Amino acid sequence: MSSARSTGREPEEPAPGTTRFTVSIPESLHRAFLSYLEERRYPNRSEAVRDLIRNALIEEQWADDTSEVVGTVTLVYDHHIRELTDRLTRVQHEFHDVIIATTHVHLDHSNCLEAIVLRGTANRVRAVAYQLTAVRGVKHGKLVCTGSGAGLA
Ligand code: NI
Repeated sequence: MSSARSTGREPEEPAPGTTRFTVSIPESLHRAFLSYLEERRYPNRSEAVRDLIRNALIEEQWADDTSEVVGTVTLVYDHHIRELTDRLTRVQHEFHDVIIATTHVHLDHSNCLEAIVLRGTANRVRAVAYQLTAVRGVKHGKLVCTGSGAGLA
């Protein structure tokens, strides 16, 4: 929590190229929204609403299997487990068309972290992320869904 409480107030004039609209919501929902702003350090309500709208649009993109999306899948695994790294490599070669970068970090003597950047249709990006996460011995796998940024202003 910040010491200077956010009021969620907007600048007097909207920036050029932006539009201002009024939204009516229940007072309790507005109070919850102001707490959300403060917790996440948003300077005003507009910035938070813009991000919420962008998140909704990204979700829409991912809901359409044929839509072009961007994502990262992060895996944590013990490389000592037999055939684990071979399986991960096999899956990655099978999906070479959607894997655009991979970073491997040796976390300690046993554990590795791999962050794999994916770009392609939502169904194919999801498929590779799920297959990698499901490989036996992967301790944790998480897909972060985002987009190219196009159309999100
Ligand atoms: Ni490693």
